[in-house]
Amino acid sequence: MIFVTSSSKHAIENHFDSNFELESKLAESGKNEWLEIVRNILPHGVSCVYVRQANPLGLGHAVLCAKDIVGNEPFAVLLADDLITSGSKNCLRQMVDVYSKVQSSVLAVQPVDLSETEKYGIVGIDNTDIELGNYAKTTTIVEKPKPKDAPSQFASIGRYILTPRIFHFLENTSKGAVGEIQLTDGIDKLLLEQDVFSYRFYGKRYDCGSKLGYLTATIEYGMQHPEVGKRFTKYLQDLKID
Ligand code: G1P
Repeated sequence: MIFVTSSSKHAIENHFDSNFELESKLAESGKNEWLEIVRNILPHGVSCVYVRQANPLGLGHAVLCAKDIVGNEPFAVLLADDLITSGSKNCLRQMVDVYSKVQSSVLAVQPVDLSETEKYGIVGIDNTDIELGNYAKTTTIVEKPKPKDAPSQFASIGRYILTPRIFHFLENTSKGAVGEIQLTDGIDKLLLEQDVFSYRFYGKRYDCGSKLGYLTATIEYGMQHPEVGKRFTKYLQDLKID
């Protein structure tokens, strides 16, 4: 896993690192259940690489920071503030299945209200609709268009599978919407040279970059938590605030 992070975000590195002091204290006091939890934060067989994005120059620039580590292979981009739950097959797994069929870049998309287009990269597709679990060829992608300029109502959500050719276009992309180097603009150039598919995934997305989305996710995850979910739900049902 490659994390593109910044100098002020040590908590992310520490979260996935081993914590010698804590682990030995838990071992000494026989708290083996907790020790297992602390030791298994990072899935087995996964190692982490951290790259610093020195200046907040945008998502396209962040992806470009990982270029030398990714190398000449297709790769996935996950925007951590887009949390997605989707039952038995997670969103990225669904996209990997599409990738194995089409051998081209795949974007996760979901329909949004017309009034919301200014929050997203909006795709144009070679079809009027995409049914759940299906994909269509992307003809254009525009970052945060006004409703009247939106090429469709399908928004790209923070999961992408991209071919390494994207790096070439990102290197040659100048600042776009909100003065940043946009991944969207790189993809819009990529699709003129290679197929890029928009895949309408199964799942619910929480925008944890917004206060309401973050709170909604916290409440819903809390209610379904295997250990405290039932008690938390009861607490919410009984809650009265004067
Ligand atoms: C980013 C992307 C945008 C995408 C969105 C999904 O925007 O630039 O294309 O639709 O994530 O969450 P941001 O949310 O960083 O403004």
